[in-house]
Amino acid sequence: MRIMAKEFQSVDLRDRNSFHVVQHASRLVEFETTEELRAIFAAGIPPRWTVLAGGNNILFTQDYDGVLLTPVSQQIRIVADDGDRVRVRVDAGVEWDDLVGWAVEHDLWGIENLSLIPGKAGAAPVQNIGAYGREAKDVIERVEMYCVESDSMLTLDAAHCEFGYRESVFKHELKGRVIITAIEIALSRTPQPHLGYGDVEREVEARGGASLRNIREAIIAIRRTKLPDTAELGNAGSFFKNPVVDLAVADRLKAQWPDMPLYPTAEAGKAKLAAGWLIDRAGMKGFRDGRVGVHERQALVLVNLGGATGAEVLALARKVQAAVREKFGVEIDTEVNIL
Ligand code: EPU
Repeated sequence: MRIMAKEFQSVDLRDRNSFHVVQHASRLVEFETTEELRAIFAAGIPPRWTVLAGGNNILFTQDYDGVLLTPVSQQIRIVADDGDRVRVRVDAGVEWDDLVGWAVEHDLWGIENLSLIPGKAGAAPVQNIGAYGREAKDVIERVEMYCVESDSMLTLDAAHCEFGYRESVFKHELKGRVIITAIEIALSRTPQPHLGYGDVEREVEARGGASLRNIREAIIAIRRTKLPDTAELGNAGSFFKNPVVDLAVADRLKAQWPDMPLYPTAEAGKAKLAAGWLIDRAGMKGFRDGRVGVHERQALVLVNLGGATGAEVLALARKVQAAVREKFGVEIDTEVNIL
């Protein structure tokens, strides 16, 4: 078994973050096994460290003078199968969309709506990735992690992960304390299509009906029309979260702008607004500021037009927030992890 992690000094992060901003990290370690991970901390907990998985939801606004830890473990393994429900253990380093492709190949339902979301499987529970009416929390059963303070492995059941809209315990109490090494998800052989969001049903019907493969293809096609490819145009998907506001605020805005999208939430007395719509109507869609801009087809996405720094992206984000605040009196929070 490999016990030596791969270590890099003074690392150029350009190809390790989907914004492709040019920053450096003092040290970066790619680890595969939990033994390797423990060995990194055996000499003492570094004063500054964080996990850099796919780099798809992170904005480096300066050089990182600490240790970045990157999982590169690649295994997908069926751990239980009762003929219908299939539990699958997935290493943190697996590319999320490779997992979705694997599930579809194996005729397993549950994550097809989450096709083409960039990032690693280990990052999925952190912000509870979601799209087209489905979220990672709908399938995640357990999360395995290394606990830095106690130097031990810990498994958390989904019930304790405090999943919410783009939220989890990993962004709060466990932030900076654990490193996710694997997730366990539950998939099903029974077809359970979820076509209720936006254009999904129409795109699926156009492909001949609700098979797993058609749903995956439809979602991929929809995403490609709206979201820029990170290989061509640096971005981190939605830069902002859809704001959850008091119903009174939502009603007031709806009275003024009847075509404003409004979504129900699990929280009583609250409603969710579409940040993309707010940014769009605040006149910021397609706005450009030097080397950064607001994407022309999806206002939630900020893009690096080429050679931008993280600080430039952040400055644009502040302008977008100010424009929405000024027009609608609503605060939109960032979804991306800003370092
Ligand atoms: N809208 C506009 N202008 C825009 C963008 C959106 O008017 O520029 C309107 C749309 O017409 C629609 C509403 O806003 O009425 C919502 O737009 P959309 O369906 O595109 O979804 P979203 O709320 O903007 C969320 C997720 C996406 C996910 C889609 C589809 C968040 C922060 N974003 O976007 O996730 O793919 O729904 O489910 O929740 C991501 O997190 O990186 C991401 C891309």
